[in-house]
Amino acid sequence: MDLLRNIVKLLLPHRLRKFLREVHRDFVFWRAMRQFMKDPDACTHSKHPVLADLIYGWGNATWSALEEYLAACIHHAMASRGPILECGSGLSTILLGVIAKKRGQSHWAFEHKPEWATKVQIYLDKYKLDSVVLCLNPLKDYGNFCWYDPPLESIPDRFSLVICDGPPGSTKGGRYGVVPIMLERLEPGCVILLDDAHRTPEIEIAKRWATELDSTFEICGAKKPYIKMTVVNNCPPTIAASHLRLTATGTVVQKAMNVFVLNTGRCGSTTFARACRHISNFSSAHESRTYLFGEERLAYPSNHIEVDNRLSWLLGRLDRKYGDRAVYVHLKRNIHDTAASFVAR
Ligand SMILES: C[S@@+](CC[C@H](N)C(=O)[O-])C[C@H]1O[C@@H](n2cnc3c(N)ncnc32)[C@H](O)[C@@H]1O
Repeated sequence: MDLLRNIVKLLLPHRLRKFLREVHRDFVFWRAMRQFMKDPDACTHSKHPVLADLIYGWGNATWSALEEYLAACIHHAMASRGPILECGSGLSTILLGVIAKKRGQSHWAFEHKPEWATKVQIYLDKYKLDSVVLCLNPLKDYGNFCWYDPPLESIPDRFSLVICDGPPGSTKGGRYGVVPIMLERLEPGCVILLDDAHRTPEIEIAKRWATELDSTFEICGAKKPYIKMTVVNNCPPTIAASHLRLTATGTVVQKAMNVFVLNTGRCGSTTFARACRHISNFSSAHESRTYLFGEERLAYPSNHIEVDNRLSWLLGRLDRKYGDRAVYVHLKRNIHDTAASFVAR
């Protein structure tokens, strides 16, 4: 084989050899796509030869997803029940586009390089993959990190799967941005697949996400590992995304917030307020403004926990004044014990 290759090398000029290689790649890609489109399910196994042909035929092996990651993307796309978000586009976009089209799913891919978007779009058009919306936008500087600048008004409210293979590792903050920017759009149960787990920055990013999402992650694959994380709850118990604010320097800080603890009375509310005094970053009080009227009645300080059963009559006014800067807690006690306590009072 080597001898044959050397003879071909000697006989054919470099440009002709390059041309023939391109023709061969195109043919292998076309043939592999035909097989993939017929039976994408088969490619949920990373050793399936069609995957190797697709990677070879795509001709961008140093940048494109490899077998294990592609097989995982295909498996999760087949299992996902909602829209797919892809950060960075390429071969994976074409393959998931096939699945999205078959399953009637919506699939959004963010891309920042115009010439790359052109190549990907040519393939999407060639295979009539109109299920994919390829969003071309320059990366935006969010301060501590750069990330895509998504058209938030037109993308789906909820994504079930995130394929995170961009922006390139050399970008400030790498691929971190997807969680702070898209947090509210990741539905509980959403799977995030982050490629390149052999790199330290990707592991660090996964650790940060795990903290911010109150979640865990696993490293999968042997040849070129990737990270899998499931969003258990996109509003971690302490801080919802709408209560966070991005400062001009890109730091995520908590907005001023008020907590209103509603209850029936005779249900431990005084004890609860007393316990809250141990919270160091919030003040707390029990029925502290019940004797006041008008504006004064609801003029609570920021970052304050107020325990007051009468506030349930004033929910409309509270909502108008505090909007999404308020969290409401319903403090409950067994109904019979509560009634008995009222009777005994
Ligand atoms: C790791 S690639 C994404 C690969 C994609 N998931 C795939 O399977 O082909 C991330 C980004 O790198 C850029 N990129 C892809 N190929 C490139 C190349 N050969 N040279 C420079 N940048 C490239 C594109 O902007 C792409 O969105």
